[in-house]
Amino acid sequence: MTTAILSALPEEQGGLMHALQQSGQLHHAGRSFWRGRLHGQPVVLALSGMGKVAAATTAAVLAERFGVARIVFTGVAGGLGQGVQVGDVVVARDYLQHDFDASPLAARWEVPGYGRARLECDARLSAMLLEAAGDYLKSAGAGFGSRLSLPAHPPQVHHGLMASGDRFVCTAHESRALRGALAAAGHDVLAVEMEGAAVAQVCHDYGLPFAAVRTISDRADDSAHVDFAHFVQNVASRYADHIVQRFVQML
Ligand code: ADE
Repeated sequence: MTTAILSALPEEQGGLMHALQQSGQLHHAGRSFWRGRLHGQPVVLALSGMGKVAAATTAAVLAERFGVARIVFTGVAGGLGQGVQVGDVVVARDYLQHDFDASPLAARWEVPGYGRARLECDARLSAMLLEAAGDYLKSAGAGFGSRLSLPAHPPQVHHGLMASGDRFVCTAHESRALRGALAAAGHDVLAVEMEGAAVAQVCHDYGLPFAAVRTISDRADDSAHVDFAHFVQNVASRYADHIVQRFVQML
């Protein structure tokens, strides 16, 4: 029962690769995969690169070639929902593709053949990620934010809808428009990123449980590119290390 741990960028997996025991590296479809054990659990670590197509290819390889039992995504996201701040953690309850539009053939955001816009994440894996993220933020304790140069609020864990699309959302105007359009259709979105909904769809097709945890690197506004670069370089890997290692110990 191998667990795949997938991220877009190496910084989003932190030191997990170095923590792997009995590890071996394989190359397939232009990607690297590291097989080994984390806290005794068999895992495959993989990097997809950015965007939905890259993520879908990687997820399909993990299903077909590695026969994984589940896929967990760890990475960063832009905060869209009210109160979703840099340094917070979002565990996805479900996903939609914010740039998918087959209307008038199907309702806006609905993926034809699936009968709905939103694909749910696995409840059990998501509950474990919520617990792991909560434990980490609690154990990191007071002063955590200032040590990591984060805004001065205690980081929170959120659980809800995540949106993916092949765009880095980096203006306040675009993020407001995106949140508003989705909310008007009853989709209250917490965060935006570029891969998760694609992995959710591949996992749905293969019948694989899927869950995702994303740390908020920016507010998808006019300073998103600066905040993202700083966060990915200096902070993201610590979150991934701690949360994923705690999660794996719960399997
Ligand atoms: N991942 C992290 N921040 C993001 C943003 N602002 N837009 C899309 N993906 C992101």
